[in-house]
Amino acid sequence: MEDKILDGKKVAAQIRAEVAEQVAELAPQGVVPRLDAVLVGDDPASRVYVGSKARTCAKLGMASETHVLPGDTPQAGLEALIDRLNADPEVDGILVQLPLPGGIDTHAVLDRIDPAKDVDGFHPVNTGLLQQGRPALVPCTPAGILEMLDRERIAIEGRRAVVVGRSDIVGKPMAMLLLHRHATVTLCHSRTRDLPAVTREADILVAAVGRLAMIGPGHVKEGAVVIDVGIHRLTELSEVERLFPGDAARRERFESKGSVLTGDVDFVRVAPIASRITPVPGGVGPLTIAMLMANTVRAARARRGA
Ligand code: GUN
Repeated sequence: MEDKILDGKKVAAQIRAEVAEQVAELAPQGVVPRLDAVLVGDDPASRVYVGSKARTCAKLGMASETHVLPGDTPQAGLEALIDRLNADPEVDGILVQLPLPGGIDTHAVLDRIDPAKDVDGFHPVNTGLLQQGRPALVPCTPAGILEMLDRERIAIEGRRAVVVGRSDIVGKPMAMLLLHRHATVTLCHSRTRDLPAVTREADILVAAVGRLAMIGPGHVKEGAVVIDVGIHRLTELSEVERLFPGDAARRERFESKGSVLTGDVDFVRVAPIASRITPVPGGVGPLTIAMLMANTVRAARARRGA
């Protein structure tokens, strides 16, 4: 069982160590890569994410600044901040935490970010470059998944990859990355007919639907590699026991913390069928932040010619 687990924490630690080395190499040139995060409103989950980004920057020797704006900030105010960060030569990466409050035009905000500082890879210029298979800043979660597949020596070329979920943040860029690596890619979504029949074709199955334990044993072919992008907080003991029957450690964690995290995949029932599988937590999550750091250093080098 342990051999099956794709350990995102381990791969993320390798990536962070490499980023720290690059940061150290840049220091003698007077370059300290800097990531600026913009948080609008006080969504607690977003605060946690942004806080962990800032802490990771500090650990790797990078600079960071977090800009917290009130939830009722007008569009023009947010765009003025983006303009200021675009113009600041010390700022290498700009990350606007999503989702933005209702009333803000998210596309207009993301379109305003200088594509050279767009470390989330959400600007249409970077999206277009990725689509054409040209060098680009690539969204962190799919980039991290690809990095893990490579480091774990999981073959992609010629294999069937099925991505469930067509978001701009994960599903669509994931499909593009796998396509460029010569997988035969199917992108599924909520209107896909007979989803289990499609996902059972997958040698590599990426679940990014945002629905708790939706991918069950009937969705997975024997020997498939299963990547779980979902994050759901279980706050009912009955749900913990349904999804993790007899798992004393998980029950203990639930009792001490009041909740446990799990993903889009019914891990207990899918793991026996899969050849490799990511857990939640400790799978894809840590890779996302590691790749954000890697993108920031990459942006710094490219923009500063370092
Ligand atoms: N919200 C959820 N995922 C992401 C992400 O990767 N980047 C940003 N900016 N916001 C998010």
